[in-house]
Amino acid sequence: MIRKLAPYTRGYRKWILFAVLCSAGESVLELLLPQAMSDIVDIGIAQSDRTYIMFTGLRMVVLAILALACGVGAAALAARAAMGFGANLRQAEYEQVQRFSFSNIEHFSTASLITRLTNDVASTQMTLFMGTRICVRAPVMLITALVMALRISLKLSQVFLVVVPLLIIAVVIVIRYVGPFFMALQRSTDDVNLVVQEDLNAIRVVKSFVREDREKEKFAVRNSTLRDTAERAFGFVVLFMPVITLLMGGTIVALMWIGGHYVADGTMFSGDLMAFFTYATEILMSLMMVSMVMMILTRAIACAKRIIEVLEEQPEITDTAADSALQVENGEITFDHVYFKYHPTAEGWNLTDVSLHIPRGATVGILGGTGSAKTTLVSLIPRLYEVSKGAVYVGGHNVKDYTMEALRDGCAMVLQKNTLFSGTIADNLRWGNADATDEQLRQACAVACADEFIDQMPDGYDTHIEQGGTNVSGGQKQRLCIARAILRQPKILILDDSTSAVDTATDARIRQGLRSTLPGTTKLIIAQRITSVREADLIVVLDDGRISGCGTHEELMATNAIYREVYDSQQEGVSIDG
Ligand SMILES: Nc1ncnc2c1ncn2[C@@H]1O[C@H](COP(=O)(O)OP(=O)(O)OP(=O)(O)O)[C@@H](O)[C@H]1O
Ligand SMILES: [Mg+2]
Repeated sequence: MIRKLAPYTRGYRKWILFAVLCSAGESVLELLLPQAMSDIVDIGIAQSDRTYIMFTGLRMVVLAILALACGVGAAALAARAAMGFGANLRQAEYEQVQRFSFSNIEHFSTASLITRLTNDVASTQMTLFMGTRICVRAPVMLITALVMALRISLKLSQVFLVVVPLLIIAVVIVIRYVGPFFMALQRSTDDVNLVVQEDLNAIRVVKSFVREDREKEKFAVRNSTLRDTAERAFGFVVLFMPVITLLMGGTIVALMWIGGHYVADGTMFSGDLMAFFTYATEILMSLMMVSMVMMILTRAIACAKRIIEVLEEQPEITDTAADSALQVENGEITFDHVYFKYHPTAEGWNLTDVSLHIPRGATVGILGGTGSAKTTLVSLIPRLYEVSKGAVYVGGHNVKDYTMEALRDGCAMVLQKNTLFSGTIADNLRWGNADATDEQLRQACAVACADEFIDQMPDGYDTHIEQGGTNVSGGQKQRLCIARAILRQPKILILDDSTSAVDTATDARIRQGLRSTLPGTTKLIIAQRITSVREADLIVVLDDGRISGCGTHEELMATNAIYREVYDSQQEGVSIDG
């Protein structure tokens, strides 16, 4: 694990080194203090030498100040290194998440990814901060004190042979049993984040359904689960403290008992016994520090594991087989016996044996009931998901042969659930093409029939869009998203139910505009209304993941029962309205 995380200390290793040196300096300086103290007693007081006492006292003050400076330095440097390490780790995780395909993200869930990027990183960096200091101080203290104690009395030191193994057993037990609790703790944090994230994103829905109380309850349940898990995890840790204290107390009692006998026997000086106590306390203190680190470490290990999971997740869709020079030349699309399912373990297919040929420049309508896999079908073209069996070809090449950038440059998809980002309208449109001129923006908006409402806004193209595009209407948002896609000048344009909130007349004008401005572009239009696809060159009717029919309006009317049924139901609607 350390090997996997070590690379992320890049740029901050020298600070870790300096922090370690400062900590070592601090410990050594502190160990010199008792020596000076005993010099005062043994030499200064014994010989009544006031100047010696004065100078030694002054030396002690200097030593203490130096130790303090080293301590502060160590803390500051360790903090700097730890924060840098955390930043590196977060950056690496974020970059990795950007490489993820949809199915990778669904595997972790967004909420869990957020915890892994924030909370988990914070815990690991905290461990690095505390660890660098204690990991140096504890061994230095332990070794020096042990050497001193052994020098005073080899016999009495045998007590440590009993105490130290006991302490090690206690630490091992804690690590074994507390580890899983900390894993559960991070999972509970995921759960809380999930509710917060979901509810805040959908706060309008929550309010419109007057669900605040229910949502509060839902949050309360998860929040108290988090509290209980934390109590259990830290309860174990707290339980560990009295055990340590007991061991320390026991050691002191044993030392007094055995040492007392030695003093009574005359085999040990009472002064030596006193000194032995001091060193024994130091040994136990350093062991306690080590066990504290171990405890922080158990949590950090749980967190680090979760971070490494993200870093090691294989992005499902990669460019490995791709030819970097290949660009999408034309918008011809072929589905060759395509099978697809979202979960490899699921029984049924989401798409079953789909074969389809779409010539370049064609306008294709895709119809089908909800859940008939229209969105799924088109998602395979820009390789948002990977086919399970069969192959998808774009411009005569398998989609896997293109780099993701080339493929997605060639296909613009207006997603069914689209979003705008906070920023001006122009900023949002330039997502489609960063170098677009104002004139190009205007043209694209004219085709998408977005110009009419943008011109009415007081700031026009500089109007600010709120996060998630909440200050424009549903239809306005859809039109902006279409304009954004048009700006890419793609070879393939996919509109997934993108005009559902636009009135029929505007819908027709948008289609007309697309035909005249993007004549060579293959256009795939998913729609609920037959009028939206009626004059398409080809209409594909999907039913439960299979192609039920394929042809022009007239052909389908003659041959396809589902199509006719949809047509009839929509005609009825028209006559009732009329
Ligand atoms: N990310 C996903 N993970 C798992 N299953 C999914 C996922 N997205 C869609 N599905 C399932 O795949 C099937 C087809 O869904 P799809 O979104 O393609 O339907 P659709 O035809 O676009 O429907 P709509 O008209 O409502 O948009 C549905 O049964 C749905 O439950
Ligand atoms: Mg859909």
